[in-house]
Amino acid sequence: MNIHEYQAKALLRKYDVAVPEGRVAFDAQEAADAAQALGGPVWVVKSQIHAGGRGAGRFANDPDGKGGVRVVKSIDDVRENARKMLSSVLVTKQTGSSGREVKRLYIEEGCDIARELYLGMLVDRASSRITIMASTEGGMEIEEVAHRTPEKILKVAIDPATGLQPFHTRQIAFGLGLSGKQVSAASKFIAALYQAFVELDASVVEVNPLVVTGSGDVISLDAKLNFDDNALYRHPDIEALRDEDEEDPADRDRGRPRGPTPPTPPCVRVRTRRFGSVDRRWTDRRQAQRTEVTIGQRLAQCRAAT
Ligand SMILES: Nc1ncnc2c1ncn2[C@@H]1O[C@H](COP(=O)(O)OP(=O)(O)OP(=O)(O)O)[C@@H](O)[C@H]1O
Ligand SMILES: [Mg+2]
Repeated sequence: MNIHEYQAKALLRKYDVAVPEGRVAFDAQEAADAAQALGGPVWVVKSQIHAGGRGAGRFANDPDGKGGVRVVKSIDDVRENARKMLSSVLVTKQTGSSGREVKRLYIEEGCDIARELYLGMLVDRASSRITIMASTEGGMEIEEVAHRTPEKILKVAIDPATGLQPFHTRQIAFGLGLSGKQVSAASKFIAALYQAFVELDASVVEVNPLVVTGSGDVISLDAKLNFDDNALYRHPDIEALRDEDEEDPADRDRGRPRGPTPPTPPCVRVRTRRFGSVDRRWTDRRQAQRTEVTIGQRLAQCRAAT
């Protein structure tokens, strides 16, 4: 399941991942109010659709105009751009020619960008390990980087027996060419993002761009979070973020609890106690399979009891 950038940033903020301040807006006046509250002097008006390439995308009713991510310098401009963008169809590389109607905007404080980097995490099914990917080529589509210059993507697989260690985060920070206080800022960022990834049962997280600011801070300027549909029953708060307008009807029911009785929270806790830390799920596949059986039986007991 996908969520919007503003929702991903709100979740990541809870894990102390550094993100700029921002507010969601559903109409032009809300956008202006959000800008007023944020304070400026620079704001970014960002289309919220479940498709990438928004900045380079174009609106169907204004193909020669500006894209779906706009940097503006006055509250009137925030209002005016919001008015034009909302209810308009944004066509990007990933939406296909029919595009997507923009129904929500994210108004974010402008950031002083020194460098744009890439950071991603996913569960590599072949090795059953969380793999962190980092690149100095931020702001570009990572698939393109992987295709043209694969040597520019650093991959670090995390052994589930140890979890993320400080040497991993330093390896990535140095691989990104960071130095001085940027190394500790990046290490803190990566550790926070990893914790969020594991605890939220994410399947992919992408921060593109990860930005080094003029003052040496490391923050997430964009955030994409994708969740393992099979684990959504453990995260009703994330399930509640589902935006059905953005989903393909064929995919909509994937991952929803099947059967007459959805699992209840007391059953969910069984799994957590059993494994202790989420990382241990990958330590021994056979043990995991055996435990799934136990959980299945326990779930059946819980269902029978309710
Ligand atoms: N808060 C901000 N301050 C300054 N510049 C920003 C901010 N947010 C985004 N930008 C600029 O806009 C560019 C595009 O933003 P973003 O990555 O969020 O959208 P996108 O890449 O077009 O969308 P997607 O990631 O969906 O492909 C960034 O690379 C960055 O240069
Ligand atoms: Mg981006």
